[in-house]
Amino acid sequence: MSIGNKTFAIIKPDAVAAGNAGAILSLIEQNGFKVKGLRLQHLTLKEAEGFYAVHKGKGFFDELVAFMTEAPVVLLALEKENAVQAWRDLMGATNPEKAADGTVRKLYGTNIGRNASHGSDSDENAAIELAWFFRGSEIA
Ligand code: RTP
Ligand code: MG
Repeated sequence: MSIGNKTFAIIKPDAVAAGNAGAILSLIEQNGFKVKGLRLQHLTLKEAEGFYAVHKGKGFFDELVAFMTEAPVVLLALEKENAVQAWRDLMGATNPEKAADGTVRKLYGTNIGRNASHGSDSDENAAIELAWFFRGSEIA
């Protein structure tokens, strides 16, 4: 996968626990993404704190880390042209109430904290996040 064509995604604990992981994966594939890496994992506190370190100090940080560790997540390496933006478009706005119809967060999110999915916000962060969660040999 070359830079610009890959992103990192998480199907968050709310969506996995509700049984929506399969539906979200279908939506991902129907929208032309190729799944290049996939793993179910129950994040530890340290992993969630490290992953979201950029938000440390914000009012919602403790709530975010508690949420991300409450149940298993699905970790994904996705490939598509302009993957970072394409996946953020398919996820919709952070707040599901403001997300467009047909997006993952509109369909499966509950509120601004429990919003069903994560996506990298830049090519640089996609590379960092993919390397954080996947070994090279785990990405097809
Ligand atoms: P993400 O990083 O998870 O893909 O989401 P994002 O870019 O759309 O939003 P970001 O600002 O990076 O926030 C990361 C996650 O923190 C939770 N959050 N809660 N209670 C709140 O006000 C609040 N704000 C953000 C959400 O789970 C959000 O996706
Ligand atoms: Mg973000």
